[in-house]
Amino acid sequence: MIQKPKGTKDILPEESYKWQYIEKKIQELFKNYGYKEIRVPVFENTELFQRGVGDTTDVVQKEMYTFDDKGGRSITLRPEGTAGIVRAYIENGMASMPSPVKMFYNMAMYRYENVQKGRLREFHQIGAEVFGTSSYMADVESITMANEIFNILNIPNIELTINSIGCPTCRAEYQKALKTFLQKNIDKYCYTCQTRFDKNPMRILDCKEEKCKELNQGAPIILDYLCEECKTHFENVKKLLTELGIEYKVDPRIVRGLDYYTKTVFEFISKDEGYTVLGGGRYDGLVKELDGQETPALGFALGMERIVEIYEKYNKENMIKPEVPKLYIAEIGEKANNLATILVKKLREKGLNVQKDITEKSIKAQFKYADKIKAEYVLTIGEDEINNNKAKLKNMETGEETEVELTVEDICGHINE
Ligand code: HAM
Repeated sequence: MIQKPKGTKDILPEESYKWQYIEKKIQELFKNYGYKEIRVPVFENTELFQRGVGDTTDVVQKEMYTFDDKGGRSITLRPEGTAGIVRAYIENGMASMPSPVKMFYNMAMYRYENVQKGRLREFHQIGAEVFGTSSYMADVESITMANEIFNILNIPNIELTINSIGCPTCRAEYQKALKTFLQKNIDKYCYTCQTRFDKNPMRILDCKEEKCKELNQGAPIILDYLCEECKTHFENVKKLLTELGIEYKVDPRIVRGLDYYTKTVFEFISKDEGYTVLGGGRYDGLVKELDGQETPALGFALGMERIVEIYEKYNKENMIKPEVPKLYIAEIGEKANNLATILVKKLREKGLNVQKDITEKSIKAQFKYADKIKAEYVLTIGEDEINNNKAKLKNMETGEETEVELTVEDICGHINE
């Protein structure tokens, strides 16, 4: 038997309705904040991620699904959404749209990761990006919207952590201090960290190797090196969050795993699961880096697999139910089958979930099936019913039977009571 590739998941019908519910709730929220959906290709030219995400990140160095296509172009399955959306923003001249431009997405991502709980190779992100504002108010609006996701989904025990990783100006100062600290023990770090020392020492702070994490203890923190502008920006973000009553913790160790971030970065962490459910931040340099005009921007993405998992955990009692058929029409004999087929078609045209047999089951098996699929009502049609133009409609929950006319109007009138 051929099995699915490692790190992928089938989302089966008994689960997909929960995904649809969560996606709908989040997308409604995003729409209220003025976001519109964007869809971009699953694969992009590899250079986009090398330049956008950064060629010293784990994502680019270790985790990308990259291959040459038949035309010899290097192609990569998107490991994240932001780079592709920035490319689309530039390529489609969106800078001329009324600013800010707010876009959301719901897309599959691909990373060759060590597979573990909550860490897959194909996973899904819902994200939101806003272009054309450098104001701290945009950071706060984005964080507020992210925070609201957990409220509307009734998910507790989520901790918001924020940090500022400054701009290229303050980062230059910081990197000097960081290098002096790292230099002392650089030969004890893992090989990857050693290769990152010259080009991008901040990436060393993001290393997941235990020995490197230990060596990083006591490293200088960027917050102590922020320039006036970045400091004021961060202070304003914190002040407004406090005024809005949004609880947060400043964690100076958040550097995020992607190179494009500037100033505010944030993560929403599930205290129970111990993983980050949602991550994001500002990336004021990325549009320019990818050959667009200088455009401040920011955004975030949340992992759908992770949010579905915790949603299920906390909403056991009031879990949404999968949709069940409103009506099942059971029939016996050719004439009844024809009439049932016509009725089902007309009732479906009215937007109702109505089912009938398409497998030539016996009448007994049809009843059994209607019961199994939890149809709310069952209407039974045979020769007598056709002659009288009347049939019994059974409410499957109460067992109550009513006689209805075999017309769409009368059936609708009864099942929609
Ligand atoms: P990220 O932190 O790499 O950020 O991913 C965001 C979220 O996607 C994570 O918090 C996690 O919930 C989920 N996620 C990431 N990797 C996996 C995986 N292997 N398996 C399951 N879930 C995963 C970004 O991707 C940025 N593009 C976010 C962003 C948007 N920043 C600004 N705009």
